[in-house]
Amino acid sequence: MSSAPPAAGKDRFPDLIAAIGNTPMVELRRLAPSPDVRIIAKLEGANPSGSVKDRIAHAMIEDARARGALQPGQTILEPSSGNTGISLAMIGSLLGHPVRVVLPDNTTEERAQLLRLFGAEIISSPGAEGSNGAIRLAQQLAAADPDLFMPYQYGNEANPRAHEEGTGPEIVAEVSHVDAFVAGLGTGGTLSGVGRHLKRIRPATRVIAAEPLPGEQVQGLRSLEEGFIPPVLDESVLDEHARAELPIEACGLLAGSLTDGLATTYFPARNADASPLRYSVHPDDLVRITYAIEDAGQDLVAIFHSHTHTPAVPSPTDRRAAMYPDAFYLLASLTDLAATPERALRAWRIHGGQSFEVPLRVD
Ligand SMILES: Cc1ncc(COP(=O)(O)O)c(C=O)c1O
Repeated sequence: MSSAPPAAGKDRFPDLIAAIGNTPMVELRRLAPSPDVRIIAKLEGANPSGSVKDRIAHAMIEDARARGALQPGQTILEPSSGNTGISLAMIGSLLGHPVRVVLPDNTTEERAQLLRLFGAEIISSPGAEGSNGAIRLAQQLAAADPDLFMPYQYGNEANPRAHEEGTGPEIVAEVSHVDAFVAGLGTGGTLSGVGRHLKRIRPATRVIAAEPLPGEQVQGLRSLEEGFIPPVLDESVLDEHARAELPIEACGLLAGSLTDGLATTYFPARNADASPLRYSVHPDDLVRITYAIEDAGQDLVAIFHSHTHTPAVPSPTDRRAAMYPDAFYLLASLTDLAATPERALRAWRIHGGQSFEVPLRVD
């Protein structure tokens, strides 16, 4: 057996740092809403410590060493919900820098184990304060000890630059025409760096930030509505914020035969109120569907809508606004769906402001 180190090649790297980046891209056909839409994901989990953060941890350390801001053997301190800390710990252990990570105490045990595996010291911050609490504590610790070097991913330009010079060009090398780029927003480094590169190549590319709802704890991601805007986030590249929302009430009409009370066709309609608490069938849809029902020689049998928060019972608003005394009102309750599915779909007649339940059979 030869004692020579293995030669670097396409799939073999001299060390873990050399294996950072150039992650695979994969088309997600089953997630595409139509054959005209192509969704391509970049598998950042294929980086050596398991996340996109290897890119920026490496870039920030290299930048600081080159500037002399990080001396050989100097200790690195960073607030992190996990991934940046794990990446810094991996690279620090390879380059001879001890690493301390301020980690919210509700982070998963698996992350803490990985940090310890790479030799990092963990300093806990209150989980309820999320990543903002970890940032505050790390800033206090760094201010009190000038021997510590804090890369501070939220304010370090090497973070977005790693994406502008690495992730962005890798994407363009595989996909020349990008209509939209979607990424989670943590520090905003990925969105700012990749977004800048993509817009330079094709200015019409839309850049969309995926953000949790305010107060929702998604490790690594943040809502800008909570008030902290990371200095590295270049808001001018963001076109849209994709935020999780409560469902709005769905509605539609059912057609069939009024004589025997049998509905055979469902026509979904838009909710013109776009509200989780109210519905009104969009007027354009109402005209279009009414004509379609007439053309098919059928009757309007039922008006359907969902309740996102309450049982499948007409609300005072439903009773007041009901316009079709001859039709049935079919209600679905999203809250009852899991616990009492037999109560989740109920039929009613509504006239004179009163509602009367009618038996419903679903075949
Ligand atoms: C897995 C993962 N994806 C995305 C992000 C957010 O990326 P960025 O900080 O570049 O906005 C994070 C941040 O911690 C992360 O851990």
